[in-house]
Amino acid sequence: MELLRIEHLSKIYGEGDNKVVALDDVSLTIEKGEFTAIIGASGSGKSTLLHMIGGVDIPTSGKVFLDGQDVYAQNNEKLAIFRRRQVGLIYQFHNLIPTLNVVENITLPVLMDKRKVNQARLNELLALLGLNQRKDHLPNQLSGGQQQRVSVGRALMNAPAVLLADEPTGSLDSQNGHEIIKLLKLSNRKYG
Ligand SMILES: Nc1ncnc2c1ncn2[C@@H]1O[C@H](COP(=O)(O)OP(=O)(O)OP(=O)(O)O)[C@@H](O)[C@H]1O
Ligand SMILES: [Mg+2]
Repeated sequence: MELLRIEHLSKIYGEGDNKVVALDDVSLTIEKGEFTAIIGASGSGKSTLLHMIGGVDIPTSGKVFLDGQDVYAQNNEKLAIFRRRQVGLIYQFHNLIPTLNVVENITLPVLMDKRKVNQARLNELLALLGLNQRKDHLPNQLSGGQQQRVSVGRALMNAPAVLLADEPTGSLDSQNGHEIIKLLKLSNRKYG
C-alpha cells in the first residue's frame, strides 16, 4: 500500500543573488512499512526534503500526499494537528525539553494534543527503548544514546504514519549510532 507520494516537489529559498534551488522537481513514492534512506552530499537538499514531507516548511511547488492526505491543501491549524499526529521527527540533536523527565518528554506530543496518554503504548515504548530504569531522569542525567532513544520514543508515541529521521546518529559514537538504527528498524517492523 502506498503511504507517501511526492509529486514534482521544488523548494527555492531566497531570491535574486541569494536564490537557492534546494529541491528541483523531486518525485517518489514510498510504501507503507518501507525503510528508506536518502543519501546525498552536504547541501543536496536531504533536510529540506524531510521538512517538506513532514509539513515543517512549505514547498515552492509540487505536492506531498501522506496516507492519501494532500498535506499542503490543509489550512495552518489542520497542518499543525497533522504534524503532531501523523509525523514523527528525529534530529541529530535530541531537542528534548531540559526541564521535563523521560516520561514527560516522550508523552509531550500527546499532552500538546490535549489527549489522554495511552499507558500501554508508553510502557511498551519504554521497554522497547530500554528506558524503564530512567523514567524520572532529566535529559542532562542521561547519556547521549539514552537521550536519542527518548527522542525516538517521543517520535513514536502518537503512532505516526511516518517516522522521519535527519541524521539521527550524527551526534553519537558508532555503537550508540548502531543501536539507534537497530531500534528504528525494529520499530519499523513492529509498527509498520
Ligand atoms: N532556510 C534556508 N534559507 C536559505 N537557504 C537554505 C535554507 N535551508 C537550506 N538552505 C539551502 O538549501 C540547500 C539544501 O540544504 P539542506 O539543509 O536541505 O541540505 P542537506 O542535504 O540536508 O545537507 P547536510 O548534509 O549538510 O545536512 C543548501 O544549499 C542550503 O544552504
Ligand atoms: Mg541536513
